[in-house]
Amino acid sequence: MSEPKKNSPTVSPMSVPKFAACKGREQKLTVLTAYDFVFASLFDQAGVDAILVGDSLGMVVQGKSTTMPVTLDQMIYHGEIVVRAVHRALVIVDMPFMSYQVSPTQAVENAGRILKETGAGAVKIEGGVQQVDTIRALAAADLPVMAHVGMRPQSVKKLGGMSKVQRDEAALLADAQAAEEAGAFAIVLELIPRPIASAITKKLTIPTIGIGAGPECDGQVLVSYDMLGLTQGFQPKFLKRYADLHASAMEATTRYIEEVRNSQFPDAAHTHE
Ligand code: KIV
Repeated sequence: MSEPKKNSPTVSPMSVPKFAACKGREQKLTVLTAYDFVFASLFDQAGVDAILVGDSLGMVVQGKSTTMPVTLDQMIYHGEIVVRAVHRALVIVDMPFMSYQVSPTQAVENAGRILKETGAGAVKIEGGVQQVDTIRALAAADLPVMAHVGMRPQSVKKLGGMSKVQRDEAALLADAQAAEEAGAFAIVLELIPRPIASAITKKLTIPTIGIGAGPECDGQVLVSYDMLGLTQGFQPKFLKRYADLHASAMEATTRYIEEVRNSQFPDAAHTHE
């Protein structure tokens, strides 16, 4: 069977309005991160609703200890690769640290570059109340923006740790409502206790996408390398590993090394006569 092509009448690509319209539906929205062609096409074929080119790539792809060193050019590089692989899902690209915090004008210019140079459908920025002017400027320029509140990895130095559950209900609700009122089409809730995430989800008219925020959110997102068990040594309570690809890849690699060393590979079946 040939792969469905973008814009083919048989596939119905996920758009920003369609994604936003899934608010409150019984069937939850599914989002996974991807950074390359192979995983992006796999998740798209599996039927995920949206693919986030997360700045988590700084940690899981580049091996850095935070997301803060990731650059705009790196996000555009990975975003363009992912968009080329995807036929149906909505692709959202993270705006990296200091690519939007300086001013709304800086944010509009850089979000414009991301959408123009990658072909992605939307960008994501971290912040609620403090980013109201920026979200408003992006929305006014028709640059669809997803917000991200709760644990904000780009603010790790202020928040005091990557895994700190955020519990200030009034501040979290104010952030989420500010982002919605300013024009965000959806919002990520990261590391928020279930009752608070549930209350925010009930109050908002845009979809909430949870990571460590419990089951009442309108959808869920996980870092794909964590979900597939590729990363090691990171086991927050919210993370469910659906596979152990680290173990499978390790087993395959050690067998390959052994077979080459023992002259078992290549055998006749893998040799041109
Ligand atoms: O960068 C990222 O992968 C994210 C998700 C954790 C939501 O922002």
